[in-house]
Amino acid sequence: MKILVINGPNLNMLGRRDTKHYGTDTLETIEHQLVEKGRELGCELAFFQSNHEGAIIDYLQEAAVDADGILINPGALSHYGYSLHDALVDPALPVVEVHLSDIHARETWRRTSVLADIIIRQIAGLKAQSYSLGLEVLVKHIKGQETK
Ligand code: DQA
Repeated sequence: MKILVINGPNLNMLGRRDTKHYGTDTLETIEHQLVEKGRELGCELAFFQSNHEGAIIDYLQEAAVDADGILINPGALSHYGYSLHDALVDPALPVVEVHLSDIHARETWRRTSVLADIIIRQIAGLKAQSYSLGLEVLVKHIKGQETK
């Protein structure tokens, strides 16, 4: 089973940006933790981060072909990225959206995700753990044992 783990704008700065909301882990640390989690769950992970919506779309168009699911933290694109929304629909793969911070307890504009209608689950507010829980939910869904 192959999962694409995609991070959007500014997430390359983790560890150095707003640690109150995002925690102190770097993206590299989070990716290492996910590799471990992936091993436990029996899945292979492919990582991609970009600060550019178009680059993420280009990646999805190529990489989704042989993938089984998508774990994505779209960063601020969650709130307005309609091209990203459409690019996530086209591969017809299960998508889990994760956020480090609790987007529902911050500014009003962060409370809406344009991906809400296409994801199987959104996990927010657990800092780095949002990713590992998100991966677990996604893999269980793919294996047909969806967690309730
Ligand atoms: C974020 C939340 C977004 O609102 C913000 O723009 C980010 C990070 C999070 O992980 O909490 O860049 O996606």
